Amino acid sequence: MRTQVGILGAGPAGLLLSHLLHLEGIDSVVLEDRSRSYVENRIRAGVLEQVTVDLLNDTGLGERMQREGLVHHGVEFAFAGRRHRIDFADLTGGKAITVYGQHEVVRDMIAARLAAGGQILFEARATAVEDIESERPRIRYEHEGEVRELACDFIAACDGFHGIGRAAVSDGLRVYERHYPFGWLGILADAPPATEELVYSRHETGFSLLSMRSPQMARLYLQCDPEDDLKNWPDERIWAELHTRLEVGGGPAVPEGPILQKSITAMRSFVVEPMQAGRLFLAGDAAHIVPPTGAKGMNLAVGDIVVLARALAGYFRQNRTDGLETYSDVCLRRIWKAQRFSWWMTSMLHIFPDATAFDDRLQLAELDYVTGSRPALQALAENYVGLPFG
Ligand code: FAD
Ligand code: DHB
Repeated sequence: MRTQVGILGAGPAGLLLSHLLHLEGIDSVVLEDRSRSYVENRIRAGVLEQVTVDLLNDTGLGERMQREGLVHHGVEFAFAGRRHRIDFADLTGGKAITVYGQHEVVRDMIAARLAAGGQILFEARATAVEDIESERPRIRYEHEGEVRELACDFIAACDGFHGIGRAAVSDGLRVYERHYPFGWLGILADAPPATEELVYSRHETGFSLLSMRSPQMARLYLQCDPEDDLKNWPDERIWAELHTRLEVGGGPAVPEGPILQKSITAMRSFVVEPMQAGRLFLAGDAAHIVPPTGAKGMNLAVGDIVVLARALAGYFRQNRTDGLETYSDVCLRRIWKAQRFSWWMTSMLHIFPDATAFDDRLQLAELDYVTGSRPALQALAENYVGLPFG
């Protein structure tokens, strides 16, 4: 098989690239290791930046999001027994975020690609990329019990943190990395969220976050040990910790309900540079990971793809290579700002196991300062609703 752009991975990055290329009249094939139902039901991120929402609307992917997404004009911070609302609309000149699950975005993108006759091969695992320094790179993959080959002009590795794309070029890449001494236990609960807006809570017993997927479905997170086992977290313990950490400063009781999904995710900050080797381009989690506090992961993947799609359109439609040459540098400027923001939010809101009493006081002073200063709030809000794409 042959195509113009061979895409590894049907996550938000790979699917959006295939869609944007299609709008430019460029052919692509997406190879996805997992089944369609698996990727459509994988619960992950939930917050879309204003720029992501605008892009989905402008490119014809926003119809269901407009109907079902929850537009939020602010979030709450809770710490030291107090609560503060951060009013994004007021601080950013009217911008907002939209709560709409990543799996819903993925469903909308798959539906749009298939309706337009796009090719997504599910249960097609890429095993190798070859000849990326030549003009005819190739992807080897396994599908329906056979080893097959996809010949391309370019390869986009959108295959996530554990994919093969980055590993294939790891020799020439510089890695920048930080691990955190905690993880997040996340649950999806068949229970209404206690508040309409998200609550980020810094509590002596650990961070917790109240989010949602709909007015009937809460998505809740608790700081935990990154090596912890779900066996140590029966439902009663999860609810007890959520009550302790979230019902502070006069906040409402957290309604309980059946827990539909539970997982523990370790946290890291990770970036590789450059995000390109020959005709192979890395995008999304394949190139960078942020700790989740601040919800930047999926939004960063979208930002990379906007730059890559524009670069590939320049090449195929106008025979220009400048966009391809600057792809990595343009993306990395936005990525490092989101890394900084995610690291800062994480550091400000979590309990570090080795924190001294002095560190503790500094952290509370930072929260007190940020929530009490309009310039500091504006900086937080500007980053939270999303910086412009490169
Ligand atoms: P992915 O969504 O990972 O997509 C990569 C795709 O490639 C996958 O479908 C995978 O199956 C496929 N693939 C991998 N290897 C191969 C191969 N060899 N051949 C073919 N296909 C392959 N972000 C937030 O902002 N908030 C959150 O709460 C949050 N929670 C998260 C929880 C978890 C468990 C994880 C892993 C991530 C979470 N993230 C969160 C981050 C966010 O979901 C990611 O940033 C986002 O999914 C990045 O999209 P992507 O398309 O780059 O990668
Ligand atoms: C969600 C995840 C985040 O990391 C975050 O900062 C806010 C919300 C969520 O899954 O809803």
